[in-house]
Amino acid sequence: MASNSIDTDDLVWQQIRQHQALEGRKVFFFQEVDSTNTIALDLGKNGEPHGTVVVAESQTMGRGRLGRKWESPPETGLYCSIIIRPEIAPEDLSKITLAAGVAVCAAIETETGLKPQIKWPNDILLDGKKLGGILTETGALQYGETPLVVIGIGLNINTGLSSFPAELSKKCTSLSIQTGRQHSRGIILKEIINTIEQNLVVLQQKNFEKIMQQFKKRDAIAGKELSWVTIQGNIVPGRSLGIDGHGVLQIEDKEGFVHEVVSGDITLTQK
Ligand code: BTN
Repeated sequence: MASNSIDTDDLVWQQIRQHQALEGRKVFFFQEVDSTNTIALDLGKNGEPHGTVVVAESQTMGRGRLGRKWESPPETGLYCSIIIRPEIAPEDLSKITLAAGVAVCAAIETETGLKPQIKWPNDILLDGKKLGGILTETGALQYGETPLVVIGIGLNINTGLSSFPAELSKKCTSLSIQTGRQHSRGIILKEIINTIEQNLVVLQQKNFEKIMQQFKKRDAIAGKELSWVTIQGNIVPGRSLGIDGHGVLQIEDKEGFVHEVVSGDITLTQK
């Protein structure tokens, strides 16, 4: 189906675009931007309030974790960033990515019946392939002040295989590839935002346990053999023991030593 006809069908998306609003939130809607996260950080620094959303039909410099590029072909995916001002301690900020990840999975499940999983800390997978990702970034943190945080979400919704660069086409998927039908980006965006907001309330109530339970149900790597590539580039083969009560990934290496992982990259060696 041509992208125009998808958009004609997606009335909620059209409403968000025309009214620049979504359930009482301000939405900044763009045809093309470099990165919705960059725009959202700038808007946040200029005082836009908690809950403001930035959406784009495409991005020229969409970015992912660890400096990776996020492919953002026009008018088929969801590329959005939410400005939040969470009342949580700086040491708990990394939990926001996990809370957003489980919210995105739950929203997709509600709207499509599919059951996406999370590869710690931010990859959304379906059928072992990358469906989406979360990139959480912060403005400059000032001691004692409520932080400015941007939650960036990239999701392949109606993206066809041919839209992915050749080297990614075996590793990536989209909702439409999985179901064989088109999905409403507007309805999915609405559900994602509501579910993220609920999970932020849970975090602010210091109830990470509840997020952790949701995460464990959707954990794509628990118990699996993997390689942890540290920020320094060292490779540690091991097995995931899942996350602890702070959202820190536990990896048991071949000698039985348990590493507490807060950064770096995970590559599964077992499906
Ligand atoms: C990842 O997989 O490492 C995270 C990908 C996050 C991509 C989204 S798309 C909207 C927002 N703007 C960006 O530049 N990145 C995030």
